[in-house]
Amino acid sequence: MTTSHTLVVEDLAVGYKDRAVLERLDLAVPPGRITAIVGANASGKSTLLRSMSRLLAPRAGAVLLDGRSVHRMHAKELARTLGLLPQSPVAPEGITVADLVGRGRNPHQGLFSRWSAADDAAVAAALDATHTAGLAERPVDELSGGQRQRVWIAMALAQQTDLLLLDEPTTFLDVSHQVEVLDLLTDLNRARGTTIVMVLHDLNLAARYADHLVALAGGRLHAAGAPADVLTEDCVRTVFGLESRVITDPTCGKPLVLPLGRHHTSGSPRG
Ligand SMILES: Nc1ncnc2c1ncn2[C@@H]1O[C@H](COP(=O)(O)OP(=O)(O)OP(=O)(O)O)[C@@H](O)[C@H]1O
Ligand SMILES: [Mg+2]
Repeated sequence: MTTSHTLVVEDLAVGYKDRAVLERLDLAVPPGRITAIVGANASGKSTLLRSMSRLLAPRAGAVLLDGRSVHRMHAKELARTLGLLPQSPVAPEGITVADLVGRGRNPHQGLFSRWSAADDAAVAAALDATHTAGLAERPVDELSGGQRQRVWIAMALAQQTDLLLLDEPTTFLDVSHQVEVLDLLTDLNRARGTTIVMVLHDLNLAARYADHLVALAGGRLHAAGAPADVLTEDCVRTVFGLESRVITDPTCGKPLVLPLGRHHTSGSPRG
């Protein structure tokens, strides 16, 4: 099963007051695939995700979902097709995990429609998939950073959208939970054809999990394409100002970036 929604960014310019952030950005999100966005801090990744989910209005250009400007769609209408997990979401004070995840169902409820068995099932499945069912009655404020992050992911899953945008979904997670979340998003992509767009800082996980890699530098698109084509030593140097070696990951054949700090240069005797 695949969904075929198209999400296209056309000549987009976005900023905050007098600060221009994104300029002349063009991007086509491959439908039914996993896209990872990488780039240095402040390069505009979150700004791009917020613009794609209509939270920030463009100064020029457009974001088109199935050919329609997302900025001309109603919030709820868009939220039935496209979900966003922001970088630092804030939970209402005192809310429990079950209630927060339940809010993911809001876009599916009409003015007078009641909470349904389908809503219950979606919440239960999301809690289950993220291993947060045991936390359901706990206040979100009292969770660890990693538990809270998984609860937010559960909320995004409960929304059951065909497109899912996630801003650093693996922050706060230990290495096994990082892999688990990325495996879970891959399952969702394979089973339902959900189009995933996520910002990741770990270049090696990005290369491994993404079909399509987008590198931003200074608010502009530096490169986009298959991870092996995008993630080169030149790219890492330009985008992050970092010297590195890029080798082939023996476990999956994808590029593996080995950063070279000032103390660990290539060929130095102490490694
Ligand atoms: N609400 C805001 N008001 C003013 N400037 C902002 C706002 N949010 C972000 N910026 C600025 O826009 C630029 C891009 O920020 P953005 O959050 O998109 O970066 P990012 O690539 O997501 O970085 P990070 O990796 O640190 O999350 C930065 O210079 C930032 O200071
Ligand atoms: Mg960000």
